[in-house]
Amino acid sequence: MNMKELAQKNKQYIIDLRREFHKYPEPSWKEVRTSKRIKEELDKMQIPYISVAGTGVVATIEGKNKGKTVALRADIDALQVNEANDVSYKSQNEGIMHACGHDGHGAMLLGAAKILNESKERINGTVKLFFQPAEELAEGAEKMVQEGVMEGVDGVFGIHLWSDLPCGTVSVEEGPRMASADLFKIKVVGKGGHGSLPHQGVDAVVVASAIVMDLQSVVSREISPLESAVVSVGKFVGGTRFNVIADEAVLEGTTRCFNNQIRKDFPKMLERIAKNTAASYRAEAELEYTPGTPATINEVVCSRVAEKSVEKLLGKEGIIKMEKVTGGEDFAMYLEKAPGTIAFVGVRNEEKEADYPHHHPRFNMDEDALPIGSALYAQFATDFLNEK
Ligand code: NI
Repeated sequence: MNMKELAQKNKQYIIDLRREFHKYPEPSWKEVRTSKRIKEELDKMQIPYISVAGTGVVATIEGKNKGKTVALRADIDALQVNEANDVSYKSQNEGIMHACGHDGHGAMLLGAAKILNESKERINGTVKLFFQPAEELAEGAEKMVQEGVMEGVDGVFGIHLWSDLPCGTVSVEEGPRMASADLFKIKVVGKGGHGSLPHQGVDAVVVASAIVMDLQSVVSREISPLESAVVSVGKFVGGTRFNVIADEAVLEGTTRCFNNQIRKDFPKMLERIAKNTAASYRAEAELEYTPGTPATINEVVCSRVAEKSVEKLLGKEGIIKMEKVTGGEDFAMYLEKAPGTIAFVGVRNEEKEADYPHHHPRFNMDEDALPIGSALYAQFATDFLNEK
């Protein structure tokens, strides 16, 4: 049987698992039951695994012949969302919901484990299965990488089920797919005083306001107009009382872009503006820059392999083009260690009320996408390993 047929054979198994994960969703770093269930299923298949990053699991399937190593990744955490769907497998954990489709990711990867385990004869190399915690905090992948899961991995492949794409279609194109997402904090130090005598102090509120305005020139004047980027200040805290000159103000914001060179340059740009603007007002400013996740950029060769894999399963009409998205995805952490591709697998179907956006209380999926995802994981792994 080919991958598609094996996936169809296991369709009910994959759907049942997805519904079970959906019924018992767990937030980031607390995927205890989910992790335990994944291990139980791997035990049944007699696939060896190790625990990593707390609730993470890495399973290994050795092919018949020696060769390269490919990693397949599924994230498994849920969100603080109150489910509004009326389904038999509705969330039983108050206030927590699989509203991003990660229930499907875990189930599809277990489905792929079944398929690959039955196809060992055809595999030249090693397949690693990454069940990753805490994607929604952009922390899980980093922790997995720190614990060495990418050592010896030649290529990595991930799937995100995607509500903007119709069920039966998949996007795997090369290039930027999701944005980097970092956090910054600027602390402005001035000098306090009486609001009626501003000349005796250094007003941190005025200084911070000037910094907010000057930051607007980063995207508009310093970055190429052909690049997409964002610098947003979302929080401004300063001062204590209407007639007191503020001696301190704190700004917090986020940066986004699809070009990891720009991402590297952001801290220098923000620091230069913060410090020099502050200096021109006789104040001081400190920048604290916290990296979140890099931009997710699909590598060319892996994307072409993935495109062929999709064609084998769905034909040419299964390939769909999709515009990149400004959300972040910590799959990018794996891409810093090996080339790879993330595929967006369509789950949209109006007739099944699967047409709400991700993170919405009524998010749901056309479950016909699940065997497609499992087959794609398995097909990509086999194609990648067999490729010259
Ligand atoms: Ni997600």
